[in-house]
Amino acid sequence: MADKVLITLDDLETAVPLNAAFEAAGFATNTISALDDARSAVRREHPALIILTGALYEPPARHLVAYAHDREVSTLALVEHTDSERAEKAVQLGVTGVMSKPAHPEEVVAVARRLIERRRLQERTGIVGESAPIQEVLVRIEQMAPVSSTVLIQGESGTGKELVAKALHDLSSRRGKAFIAVNCGALPETLLESELFGHEKGSFTGAAERRLGRFELADGGTLFLDEIGETSAAIQVKLLRVLETRTFYRVGGSQAIKVDVRVLAATNRNIRDAVTVGEFREDLFYRLNVLNIYLPPLRERRGDIPLLVRRFIREFARTHDRHFRGITPEAMDVLVSAPWPGNIRQLRNLIESMVVLAPGAEIRASDIPRDVLEGAGSLLPVRISQGVGVGGPGGDWRDFGHPHRRARAGGDRLPARHDNGGGGAGRYRRCAQGFPWKSATGGGAIGHR
Ligand SMILES: Nc1ncnc2c1ncn2[C@@H]1O[C@H](COP(=O)(O)OP(=O)(O)OP(=O)(O)O)[C@@H](O)[C@H]1O
Ligand SMILES: [Mg+2]
Repeated sequence: MADKVLITLDDLETAVPLNAAFEAAGFATNTISALDDARSAVRREHPALIILTGALYEPPARHLVAYAHDREVSTLALVEHTDSERAEKAVQLGVTGVMSKPAHPEEVVAVARRLIERRRLQERTGIVGESAPIQEVLVRIEQMAPVSSTVLIQGESGTGKELVAKALHDLSSRRGKAFIAVNCGALPETLLESELFGHEKGSFTGAAERRLGRFELADGGTLFLDEIGETSAAIQVKLLRVLETRTFYRVGGSQAIKVDVRVLAATNRNIRDAVTVGEFREDLFYRLNVLNIYLPPLRERRGDIPLLVRRFIREFARTHDRHFRGITPEAMDVLVSAPWPGNIRQLRNLIESMVVLAPGAEIRASDIPRDVLEGAGSLLPVRISQGVGVGGPGGDWRDFGHPHRRARAGGDRLPARHDNGGGGAGRYRRCAQGFPWKSATGGGAIGHR
């Protein structure tokens, strides 16, 4: 079935040729007036993309963007001015992509295709997020999946490193072969060595049989070395050798074994710091860091929280067979403002427990455990005093401004200690600064993210 594109009629001169171009390119199209009941059109027609041709800053278009954003429907806005301020404003409203007018219809079709593909990629990989950093991560996954180079995935605990590793495997030509994960931090050195490289019968006490290691089991596929920053110096030497020569020896073995394995590695340590203090080999670091992906902590992309919350509520309501309506605006506010030291894993676990334990059919602020509330509570007065709104009873979450924009504004006002994450998390700040491409996100003038 052809993908459906909805085009708003705010600027007829733009909309009419666009409609024709999309039809010629094989899309199914429909035009809608943003003033019209655009929301019902979105519900009815399940569009792959909505194109806003004008009046982007008027309430109807803004509501449409917020509505689409909440339902994970991509939007592409055509804006009058080419200045970056306008484009940035549009992105803050929650649109997925921005182009300047006049735009050649064929160029718009090309950008639309990319946005639709990106959305499909998110559906395939389960990576939720509309924020600029997550869109950047998706672009990198698309670029890095087809090659066999090593990728170093960095980010705090619970930010989705394993999800990204799995996505890199699933989108590669190795997808039919094994994806094997090894937690390098969980095993003592000798056990890890035999886990990775296998051992010969009788090579040590208790080695009753020959055992294949993970490198051999992953042949043709992908080996995910989790917590690589925790490996000992001896293991680091062996890993370097296998990455350089693609061969290794089983423990107690004398025959070199050759494998075709793509290695992905992850760490929640700042590995550059570990290199500086001599805890991680510099040559291995460069070997692993041929390509890299950095996953930002959740507190730096609060705009994604409402999407994640809704996604997890749907998922757990289904798993636990509970009829669940959703979440109140007040409760969502609390979740958007919470510090989330355990990132998405913590949010996900919390939603699961609340879906199971909430007495009613929706999550209310009073259902949220104290520790999360306390973390969030320190931020709430700031937001209320600024009038950015906690919805009143029965209020609609979306009526209080768009979560994306609110969240960004809220994020900017966070006290410094939250920005730094406190304690050990401060090192991720430095870590983030070490990624040159990171600063390139979000600020781009016109284009799509
Ligand atoms: N962008 C995302 N969208 C949806 N779910 C996500 C996203 N990122 C992470 N998750 C979910 O959050 C949980 C934690 O993710 P994952 O295990 O990949 O984190 P991690 O970075 O490997 O954490 P750790 O360092 O603690 O091992 C998983 O259930 C994962 O599916
Ligand atoms: Mg992990």
